[in-house]
Amino acid sequence: MNGRSGVIVVGSVHTDLIATADAMPTPGSSVLGTRFTLAPGGKAGNQAAQLARLGVPTVLISRIGTDSLGDVIAAQLAGTGIDLTYLARSTLDPTGASTVFAVSGEYASIIVPGAAAGLTDADLDAAESAFRASRFALAQLELGPDLAHAALSRARTSGSTTVLNASPIHGADPDVLAQVLDVTDVLVVNRHEAAILFHAPMTDRQAIAAAASMLNDRFDLKATIITCGSEGAVLVRGDAVIELPAWPIDVVDTVGAGDAFLGGLVAAWYGGSDDRAALRFAAAAGALAASGSGAFTSLPNRPAVEAFLQSCG
Ligand code: RIB
Repeated sequence: MNGRSGVIVVGSVHTDLIATADAMPTPGSSVLGTRFTLAPGGKAGNQAAQLARLGVPTVLISRIGTDSLGDVIAAQLAGTGIDLTYLARSTLDPTGASTVFAVSGEYASIIVPGAAAGLTDADLDAAESAFRASRFALAQLELGPDLAHAALSRARTSGSTTVLNASPIHGADPDVLAQVLDVTDVLVVNRHEAAILFHAPMTDRQAIAAAASMLNDRFDLKATIITCGSEGAVLVRGDAVIELPAWPIDVVDTVGAGDAFLGGLVAAWYGGSDDRAALRFAAAAGALAASGSGAFTSLPNRPAVEAFLQSCG
C-alpha cells in the first residue's frame, strides 16, 4: 500500500444535545420529551470515532473551543484512540453545538458550528504530513463545500482515496459541489440527498442504481453508494451493482447511523474487504448505531459489528 496507513477525517465536531420525544414540536409549541443525551457530535467527529472504534488509525482535523464543552469532547474523542494532533482549540469562538430533536426514528437539528466554522486552509497546511501518509481521506458538507473541496483536493494530490459524504446537501452551492465531486473517488449519500444531487426522485432501486451510475460517469467517480435507511443501500462501481437489504433492527434513533455506515465502510475497505463485504459491514455498523441512543454514544466497536453480522447469517 505504498507505506500509507490510516484515515484522515476533516470537518465538524461539536456538542450534540439530543432530546427524544414521541412527537416533533411545531412552531410555537413545546412537547415533553422522554430522554436527553449530551455527547460529542458532528459528522467528522462521529465518522472518526467510528473508524477508531473499529481499530483503524485515524487522524481528525477540526476545531473546538477552549470552553468546558470543548474539554469534554477532547477527552471523549481521545478515549476512542483518534489522533487529535490536529484538533485545534480556538480561543475566539466557543465549541459548536447541534440541538437535535429525535422522534420515531427521524430527527431534525439546528447546528451552530461555532469554532469549527473557523477551520481553514491553514489547518489543512498544518496537517500536510498526515495527508501525505493517509490511505483514505473523508469529508462531509457540514462546514460547506469549500472546505470539503480544499480537503479532498489536497488528499487527492497526495495520493489518498477520497471519500465524500455529501451531507447535509441543502444550501450547498452547486458549482462548488461539482468541484468537490471532481476530486472525489467515492461518493456516499442518502436517497434524499441523491435526489437533490440528481434532480430527480429516487423512487425505486432501479432509479437509484441508474442515478448512481450516471453520477459515476459524470464526475468520474470510482463508486457511488446510496443509502436508503430502512430499505438498505445500493453500491455502483462501473457495471457492478450491489444491493443490500437493511438489517432487521428496532430503531431507537437514527442520529449518527449514517456516520457509523461511513466509518464501517471505510474501515472494511481499509482492512481489504471487497465491495459486497464492505457494504454488509457498513450496514451492520449503521444498524447497531440506530439501535442505540444518540450518535457518538451508539457507535459500535468491531466485536459488536462482527457478532451482529454472525447473528444475521
Ligand atoms: O450525522 C449526525 C450528526 O449530525 C449529529 O452528531 C449532529 O451533530 C449532526 O451534526
